[in-house]
Amino acid sequence: MKAYQPARGTRDLYGDEILAQKFVTDGMHHVAHCYGYGEIITPIFEFTEVFARGMGEVTDVVSKEMYTFNDRGGESITLRPEGTAGAARALVSNGLAQDLPLKVYYIGPMFRYERPQKGRYRQFYQAGVELFGVDTPNADVEVIALANSFLKKVGVKGKITLEINSLGDVESREEYKKALLEYFKGYEENLSEDSKRRLHTNPLRILDSKEECDKVICENAPKMNDYLNEFSKNFFDEVLKGLDALEIEYKVNSKLVRGLDYYRHTVFEFITDELGSQGTVLAGGRYDDLVSELGGPKITGVGFASGVDRLALLLKETPNKQRPVAVIPLNDEYKYQALKIADDLRAEGVFVDMAFNGNVGKRFKKANKANAFKAIVVGGDEFDRGNVVIKDLDSGNQKEVSIKEISKEI
Ligand code: HAM
Repeated sequence: MKAYQPARGTRDLYGDEILAQKFVTDGMHHVAHCYGYGEIITPIFEFTEVFARGMGEVTDVVSKEMYTFNDRGGESITLRPEGTAGAARALVSNGLAQDLPLKVYYIGPMFRYERPQKGRYRQFYQAGVELFGVDTPNADVEVIALANSFLKKVGVKGKITLEINSLGDVESREEYKKALLEYFKGYEENLSEDSKRRLHTNPLRILDSKEECDKVICENAPKMNDYLNEFSKNFFDEVLKGLDALEIEYKVNSKLVRGLDYYRHTVFEFITDELGSQGTVLAGGRYDDLVSELGGPKITGVGFASGVDRLALLLKETPNKQRPVAVIPLNDEYKYQALKIADDLRAEGVFVDMAFNGNVGKRFKKANKANAFKAIVVGGDEFDRGNVVIKDLDSGNQKEVSIKEISKEI
């Protein structure tokens, strides 16, 4: 019989890895709560249009990476590659636009058909936030501050740098695109194949190409900053002033363009030096036309998503596993009494380990293997007196305790 492996780019999460991921997602629950964001769970699949319209048909994600299929009813369905378009769709379909601003966060699996490597998977997990309905720069500042607090809370190792840029409003961006097109046309022959294609679909994306031949040409390309109109320039300045006031360090990177079409004005990435080419652990920006693209009113938004798998890889140490209390019957005669004591303790919320079989010596060995901190020995004269022996497995000290007092004692 063939033994099956998980599909390429997917993996089973268990043991230390799931503890690390849970530590990261617990951090998001906690920090998002402190900033007043409520959790939202949107479906794992949506009509393909939600992502295609939302993120832009010519983006890499939409054109090459989506898991899209026709369901049995003939509808084109896509497994969500990200959370922003779904959250914006949810805002519209649930009539949440009545009560703005809307502050939501989400945690869950996303799917992209990418080439798998360390830190890059086809099923991966994001923890993100979206703030809808505030069109002033202090929303961008709040979202970046939340991201910063979240990364601090998670306590990841390595140097993490915040890079930030402004793509300006539609008007500024169109001016800039024209200038870029003009510039790159002069070097068309020398651009990579991908960039030749992007030249006519999305010249901005050439700026974040990883190809050496493109990088050389980009060195002297026009800078977005020089094409920002007055409004966009002031907007960006206000965002930076806010970050300064909060003492959040950043580096303005004029080549930061991000891969999704919905961004306007602020874009940012938190990048670590520890994960090689998959170093972006958290990324986001402002998207002012996404909700209206999805058939809703003109509502602006700003948010980010972090890569939970990447953050889990970066944790300084594996989060501590909780240590159990072991319940050990002295011999078979006491197995039901021991089971009852274990069950009563579990009902009180105590983490109890009880081996399924073995003599008292084997059970002590198993208790040590489970890293139990105390063993409760049930049986003998002590049991006849209504007591058990509680042994501290770190110090070796032991004492007799009344059965009624066990939970107080541990
Ligand atoms: P994104 O840059 O496509 O943005 O993804 C955000 C983060 O998800 C990345 O920085 C990375 O940490 C993680 N990530 C992406 N793809 C993979 C993968 N294949 N394997 C592992 N981790 C991955 C967005 O998704 C936007 N929706 C962010 C946003 C929210 N913008 C505004 N609001």
